[in-house]
Amino acid sequence: NRSTSNMAFLPVFLILLCTVKEVMLYNTFWKPTWPTARVPVVLPQATEYLNKPQFNAEAKLEVTSPCGPECHRQFSLPTYEQLKEYLSYETLYYNGSLTATKVGIYSLNAGEQYRSQVARGKSRAKRQIYGYDSRFSIFGKGFLLNYPFSTSVKLSTGCTGTLVSAKHILTAAHCVHDGKNYVKGAQKLKVGFLKPKQKDNEKGSNQTSTLHPEKMKFQWMRVKRTHVPKGWIKGNANDIGMDYDYALLELKKPHKRRYMKIGVSPAARQLPGGRIHFSGYDNDRPGNLVYRFCAVKEETYDLLYQHCDAQPGASGSGVYVRMWKRENRRWERKIIGIFSGHQWVDNSGIPQDFNVAVRITPLKYAQICYWIKGNYIDCRDG
Ligand SMILES: *[C@@H]1O[C@H](CO)[C@@H](O)[C@H](O)[C@H]1NC(C)=O
Ligand SMILES: *[C@@H]1O[C@H](CO)[C@@H](O)[C@H](O)[C@H]1NC(C)=O
Repeated sequence: NRSTSNMAFLPVFLILLCTVKEVMLYNTFWKPTWPTARVPVVLPQATEYLNKPQFNAEAKLEVTSPCGPECHRQFSLPTYEQLKEYLSYETLYYNGSLTATKVGIYSLNAGEQYRSQVARGKSRAKRQIYGYDSRFSIFGKGFLLNYPFSTSVKLSTGCTGTLVSAKHILTAAHCVHDGKNYVKGAQKLKVGFLKPKQKDNEKGSNQTSTLHPEKMKFQWMRVKRTHVPKGWIKGNANDIGMDYDYALLELKKPHKRRYMKIGVSPAARQLPGGRIHFSGYDNDRPGNLVYRFCAVKEETYDLLYQHCDAQPGASGSGVYVRMWKRENRRWERKIIGIFSGHQWVDNSGIPQDFNVAVRITPLKYAQICYWIKGNYIDCRDG
């Protein structure tokens, strides 16, 4: 069609490098500022029906992978063909139908956008702990019902997700698919929004409202369809599977609540304080929304490694940061990753553990944004 034919094909190394302009290095009085990231275009090309899935996998709330940052860096970069395969995706409908969609990857104005970004990737995040590694349970309607905490939702399979548009929830792929099969409960998936509990027949009673000021319950909404990237589905065969541990759910009806936008993940050293934040429904604190922040310790192209305290149940949480948005002249929070899980890594014989979040790279941004908006025009600036 017309739009795709205008775009130049782009060699794979350029796609991988087209991350983020390093605006802040030149500004001595900087506030942490959202870089302007030009993203490639990921477009669906062909969709076919697959057999109805079995829904026989047990939902595991934790993924583990022995391949740590060092191991990850030894993998060669995926080729253009591999990237197209990883970013192709399955869509599961509430009636049990399953489709597979192949995508193409294109770039707009390639030559101009990606020069002078080659020096990236050498420096690593400092091995330093900046913050307090503890978690905070969030109490009180004032917080739970307000942005940003109000964007955290609970999945009926036990994970956490984030409202990223009026009717889309970003979560981890392992919450709906174990790499081989869809999990039990993936077809009738529901999403729970915290809301205040109605007082029963005690209208106007001042006493009850002071005794139980913050009773909350979940309002559950049905999911209409679920997108899972192929990079996750084939991923069980190799260790890079975690790179694609994300999924997007579409609700049957839009929710009125304010949502949090997604953005391309900046390098760890560009994050305010080197830190990330996320809130989730950790299953050691049932019914509580738990918030935490911590420093990023290591990063690869696709993953952020950190020691944020987290329990199963928090996986799928949107990892966010707040930075200055120059164009809009205000601070803006955006989701730059998805919390995946805990990982033991064999570091030259010494076991080391990390929590891992999947970064929203320019390609993943293009793909998820297309799922949300249904066009690529609105997805060009990460
Ligand atoms: C399931 O829903 C999808 C989307 O609404 C539709 O295209 C498909 O035909 C439906 N499948 C069945 C078996 O009803
Ligand atoms: C609730 O308390 C306020 C003052 O504390 C009082 O003015 C109001 O009449 C009370 N309402 C009811 C229904 O008791």
